[in-house]
Parts: sequence; C-alpha cells; structure tokens
Amino acid sequence: MINFAHRGDSINYPENTLLAFKEAIKAGASGIELDVHKTKDNKLVVIHDEDIERTFLGKGLVKNFTLEELKAFKCRRVLFRDNPECHIPTLEEVLDIVKKSNIILNIELKTDEIHYEGIEEDVINLIKKYALNNNVLLSSFNLDSIRICKEIDSNIKTGLLYYKTIENIIEIAKALKADAIHPYLELVNEELIREAHKYNLELNIYTVNDPKYMRMFRNAGVDGLFTDDPKLLKEIIMEK
Ligand code: G3P
Ligand code: CA
Repeated sequence: MINFAHRGDSINYPENTLLAFKEAIKAGASGIELDVHKTKDNKLVVIHDEDIERTFLGKGLVKNFTLEELKAFKCRRVLFRDNPECHIPTLEEVLDIVKKSNIILNIELKTDEIHYEGIEEDVINLIKKYALNNNVLLSSFNLDSIRICKEIDSNIKTGLLYYKTIENIIEIAKALKADAIHPYLELVNEELIREAHKYNLELNIYTVNDPKYMRMFRNAGVDGLFTDDPKLLKEIIMEK
C-alpha cells in the first residue's frame, strides 16, 4: 500500500513546502501528494488554495502574482517563517527532490475552481523532461483535466478525485480511461473496493489520519492512503 504524504509531512511542517516533502521522505512515505496552480507568468507552483492567504502572509490569487512576487511571501506558521525551504515551491523544485528518491508522486491539478490554460500539458511536459512519467500519477476533481491528460498521453496514470457519492463512478472512470479513483474516506465501503479492483482501478483514499481507519483500509487491501502523518501510517503498515 502506498503511503502518500498529503501535502508532505503536513502534520508537522508547513503544507506543500520543500521542507514538508523532504521530511515526509525521511518519515518513511512511499509517495507524496501535492497541488499545482499556475502563476501570472505561467509557472507551475505548488500550493493548495487558489488564494495564498491561508498559508502565507499575503492575500490574492496565485494566478494574479508572478513567480518572483509569490516567492517573496513568508509562510504563515511562525516557527517556519524564516526557513528558506518554506516558501511557495515551483513544481520543478519538488521534482528535483523526487528525482533523488524512489517515491511515487501524485500531482493534483487544482483546476476545479480555475481551469488554468494548458496546465495539463505543462505538467506532462515537465515530468517528461525529468523522466518521471512512470513515477507520477495525475489527479483532479475536474473530469475535463483527467480527459485532457489522457488525450495528451494515454500512458500517463490518472486518478479521479471525488468528495460526494457518484453512483456510476466506476463507469465514469473507465470511460475516461483513468487508472485510479480517489474518494473521500467516508465514501469508501467494501463494495466500492471490490468493484474498483474488479475493473482494474486502483483505489487511493483521502485523507486518513486516524490509525483505526489506516488499519481498516490496509486490511481491506486498498492501494494507497493519503495522510498528513506519514510516520504514523508507516508504523501501521509495518505492523504484523
Ligand atoms: O488528493 C487527495 C486530496 O488532496 C484532495 O483534497 O482538498 O486536500 O486537495 P484536498
Ligand atoms: Ca490535494
């Protein structure tokens, strides 16, 4: 089962920062999950929200700042404010870390509120430049993004994110030639796990921080869990 560190080791470090990703690998994660947006000058950056305000000392949409402007914002968490590894990273900076390790990278295309023009192609070109296409899984809540990824390259792995029940999710995933479904944890039951596997779809569940659920999903044979606490999940995976 893949232990995806959700936004890095985000329980201990500022989410979606180089520090959080490096610490996740040290903590034993076998995968990393991150979120990408595009800047005003068309650069791919890693941050969760469309607006920087929740996680950085500033306000405004990512798409309205240049990369240089975004890099100047300090992280909101006091203890990490002056840490040079706690600025908004570019996707390239994270790929440099991933390249040195042996982990799976799940890049979530944050296109559900703003569909940044060309983001799918830009991300795919970049992962190919790094020769990481076999280690990367692209996901999105936006089905159009999933469709576009497969149109660009049918070998790129994709996962469908969803947060509320979609009765025909397996059918939709198959129609989009997706490789995985990524449901919110409360939507998962034994039948869904069985159906997904019957149709050759991997099942990666978010966001699982409770050890009780970590054990339950591990025992049920799911393919991956997204957790804010990769160290705890590692311990549970290692249990006999
Ligand atoms: O990819 C799993 C999870 O990250 C999706 O939700 O809101 O945490 O990006 P969110
Ligand atoms: Ca995400």
